[in-house]
Amino acid sequence: MTQTAAGQPLLEVTAVTKSFGALVAVNGLSFNLNEGEVLGIGGPNGAGKTTLFEVISGLSPATSGSVRFAGEDITRLSAEAICHAGIARTFQLNAAFDSLSVRENVEVAAQFGRANRAVPGLRLDRCTRASVDAALEITGLIERQRRIAAKLPVIDRKLLMIAGALATEPRLVLMDEPVGGLTPGETDRIVHLVERLRAEGRSIIMIEHVMRFLVQLSDRVLILHHGEKIYEGVPRGLVQDAQVVDVFLGQGASRRLASYLEGRA
Ligand SMILES: Nc1ncnc2c1ncn2[C@@H]1O[C@H](COP(=O)(O)OP(=O)(O)OP(=O)(O)O)[C@@H](O)[C@H]1O
Ligand SMILES: [Mg+2]
Repeated sequence: MTQTAAGQPLLEVTAVTKSFGALVAVNGLSFNLNEGEVLGIGGPNGAGKTTLFEVISGLSPATSGSVRFAGEDITRLSAEAICHAGIARTFQLNAAFDSLSVRENVEVAAQFGRANRAVPGLRLDRCTRASVDAALEITGLIERQRRIAAKLPVIDRKLLMIAGALATEPRLVLMDEPVGGLTPGETDRIVHLVERLRAEGRSIIMIEHVMRFLVQLSDRVLILHHGEKIYEGVPRGLVQDAQVVDVFLGQGASRRLASYLEGRA
């Protein structure tokens, strides 16, 4: 893992544009993330949030612009190389090998995350097994590690994706809608997990439509609209920003969020 020089951001996204033919999904976007920071990303459907994750994680490279991680230019690296550099992600839609057990799914992820695989195939070395155990432990999936992924409830499938990401020992975790579709009680479990990850010093970027979740956990929030940044700042400022209220939150949600933020002050 490369070290980040003092004062240098961990992630630097500079003038990133991602086009699909005539459609510009991300448009000249720039922002930084410091080590240990939790950044929340919100915005209407189709704003380009997931596309931004595709670009950062190397699944779909930027049309133009650059992404630097720990001082290294990762713009054109493969998804595997970016994972080895220390970035892992979860997906908006549940992604798992349905016929494998919870543990086997996390093992596959851990093996993908190993830059120097000591043994070929899926025979894991001690270090990789320890990463799998730690990921199952922190997500609370350890008791259900023998369950088949297809049979898991939605919350456990979300936790499984996070466990897979953590098993690659990332310095930066990207989470795409980690609480979408969960009950308030289940959402609280993800809140506690993110708090633990933050306490471990991991850097996190989360996309979420559930604004209470986002403002509760984020040091800073970024709101995208038509692929562009319309807000970047502390969560509290969101409800005072006329454009954010107008194109994203709406008056009602904005008032509810404002009183929630008041209650937490
Ligand atoms: N592979 C692709 N090919 C063509 N268009 C795409 C592709 N991926 C995304 N898009 C388009 O890019 C735009 C941004 O999509 P994206 O999935 O990034 O939005 P989002 O902010 O994640 O939305 P949501 O909140 O609904 O998940 C949309 O107009 C979408 O239709
Ligand atoms: Mg999305």
